[in-house]
Amino acid sequence: MDALEFDTHLKGIISSGFTTYAVTIGREKGLFEKLCKATRPLTCTELAKEVNLDEKLVKGWLGCMVAEKIIQFDRHGDVYYVPSNHQDSLLHSSAFAPALGPWMQVMEEITSGRENVGDSHATQLLDWFHKYKEETSSRLIETDVIPSIKEAGLEITPDSGLKIVDIGCGKANISFYFATMFPKSTVFGVEYTDVDVQRALDSVRQRGTAENLTIMKGDAQQLPESWTDQFDCILVFNVMHHIQDHSKAMAEFHRVLKKAGLLLVIEANLHSHLSANVGSKSAALLYAMHMNFHRLFYAGHHHHDHKEHPRNEEHPKDDHHGDCFHHSPDNSHQDVDQHDPHSKDESHGDSRHSHAHFPQPHHTEGHGFLWGIEACQKVLEEGNFTIRIQKPTTDFMSYLFVASK
Ligand SMILES: C[S@@+](CC[C@H](N)C(=O)[O-])C[C@H]1O[C@@H](n2cnc3c(N)ncnc32)[C@H](O)[C@@H]1O
Repeated sequence: MDALEFDTHLKGIISSGFTTYAVTIGREKGLFEKLCKATRPLTCTELAKEVNLDEKLVKGWLGCMVAEKIIQFDRHGDVYYVPSNHQDSLLHSSAFAPALGPWMQVMEEITSGRENVGDSHATQLLDWFHKYKEETSSRLIETDVIPSIKEAGLEITPDSGLKIVDIGCGKANISFYFATMFPKSTVFGVEYTDVDVQRALDSVRQRGTAENLTIMKGDAQQLPESWTDQFDCILVFNVMHHIQDHSKAMAEFHRVLKKAGLLLVIEANLHSHLSANVGSKSAALLYAMHMNFHRLFYAGHHHHDHKEHPRNEEHPKDDHHGDCFHHSPDNSHQDVDQHDPHSKDESHGDSRHSHAHFPQPHHTEGHGFLWGIEACQKVLEEGNFTIRIQKPTTDFMSYLFVASK
């Protein structure tokens, strides 16, 4: 890249940050929705009236959207519209844009050294992220997971009676969705500790009932003996990088999978080696998110009040539970545990909560959410699985593998 190209490239990145914020406004103030639902292109005045916003603001917003090719402009009628084949993407793929606001606030807290633990922006970002996961998991399943299962040759319909296990099911978004979408199938959601099992159960309870769904405690590295050759589908979504002994887990997945079954793994959409990420937008986003994920461990701790976490002993090196918002196992959590919860407000500026106590990010292969595609590929191949499909998902931050024995 010569100097001029680089200069243009850099300015483009800076401009995109502003556009991202404008996209958030488009989502949150209903501008996109109105334009998508309109039966004809709208003038700026009409749109401003529809969303009850100042016309000057809407004019600026439209100018930004047109320049960035997000919204189309018909200069003859002075009207704006979204082409019908862009609408689905506009409404769904813009879902991550609102993370920017709380993310910036958390970064501001971290870089300024103020650690407003308790009622911090990290909690806000954490809540936002949980909501985002809940809202987007159905789309991930419909647009990526189910079509890939079919493409790999396994018949999956509402009438099929498959046996599916969701390893490390978290809040059981995915398990619940599979159970309700495939009512004749049997779905198991496995979580590692009592706390996590309870969290999954609470989350399922809030969503309704699914009699074909069982949430249970279990370890990917040691699944029940009776499960040999039982499963048509094993889902391991955003969990592999948490697992300490991959060969043990792979041997277990191999054992419990039926001969014609499929193992589906989702991990972060980035390469294991930094040099391979040059030019990757998803890698840039994931690394940027990672800058304050440790802050989220902390918020997650307060938020869910996880007092004890046996994983701390069992996974001494795994400090990356943050993407599921568990607290980290280094001494930062001890600070929290020793800290009197009633004196939360007095803790502001307390050195115990300075970021010196936060775990330092590390990028070792095999642990951490920046684990990467190649590392996952290697583990699957060493586990005697044949990778049938591998591709980034439509959410763009994650990467899907479909493998068979
Ligand atoms: C990032 S969350 C992913 C949750 C869910 N699969 C999703 O994609 O939304 C990772 C989950 O894996 C669980 N986990 C970690 N190690 C595990 C193990 N050895 N066996 C089972 N679950 C495990 C964690 O407790 C956590 O809930």
